Amino acid sequence: MHKEMTLRTEDVVHYALNLMANGAPQDFNQLYRERQFQRVAQVIDEACMVMDFSYEKRANFYTYVYNRLVCKVPVDYLEFGVATGESFRAWLGLSKHAESRFFGFDSFEGLPENWQADSPKGAYSTGGQVPQVDDSRATFVKGLFQQTVDDFSLGFKPQNRLVLHMDADLYSSTLYVLMTLNRHIRPGTLILFDEFTARGFTDEYAALEDYCTACCRSYQVRARRRDFVKLAVEITA
Ligand SMILES: C[S@@+](CC[C@H](N)C(=O)[O-])C[C@H]1O[C@@H](n2cnc3c(N)ncnc32)[C@H](O)[C@@H]1O
Repeated sequence: MHKEMTLRTEDVVHYALNLMANGAPQDFNQLYRERQFQRVAQVIDEACMVMDFSYEKRANFYTYVYNRLVCKVPVDYLEFGVATGESFRAWLGLSKHAESRFFGFDSFEGLPENWQADSPKGAYSTGGQVPQVDDSRATFVKGLFQQTVDDFSLGFKPQNRLVLHMDADLYSSTLYVLMTLNRHIRPGTLILFDEFTARGFTDEYAALEDYCTACCRSYQVRARRRDFVKLAVEITA
């Protein structure tokens, strides 16, 4: 046992030189996530629908999730990252039940930190404007998640099948929401991710993994775009 745990000096030096040559620490994080993902990917396709669709046709994905996974029952739909409300409106159109409830969370000031090169801090801002939606089932909660979601979570009484739609792109935003809503997340809760593996494996995918590790949760992937960028999971424990 002791022998197995002993590190040889030359291995440590080789490892450190490798890290330096490859630009640690971000690359190390990326490598760690990629290895983690490879393990998860081995079981990801059990009972999973694989779909091909472009970004513009992503409503087809929502339709599949609503019809086949939600099974058309009333929903409590919570979307994190609303911007102009495109995906929010698509979900309003999918569920016609009077009992369905739709909550959209956003600062409407854009991303609170830099993400990809073409999505810097402030990207997707609507200048604080909340989308105009003529549907009494819809509520918008304006502000940083870190300032709004905790109070919402404390007062929220789920009434329908819970569907979370994570479209905030960032690790920090996604992880904060999942941790803060943990008290409401149950086996059967569906969680959609819009950019699951968009920047390697460091944002929405990493947030889901870290949430599941911290809160002893597990999930099954129920539907995905072939490239794993858009994905729906069902919480299983
Ligand atoms: C990609 S956009 C959402 C796109 C939208 N779902 C659609 O279909 O058009 C990401 C949004 O997340 C919001 N966002 C990200 N992190 C946030 C945070 N911590 N608090 C509030 N809003 C946040 C940004 O303001 C931005 O509007």
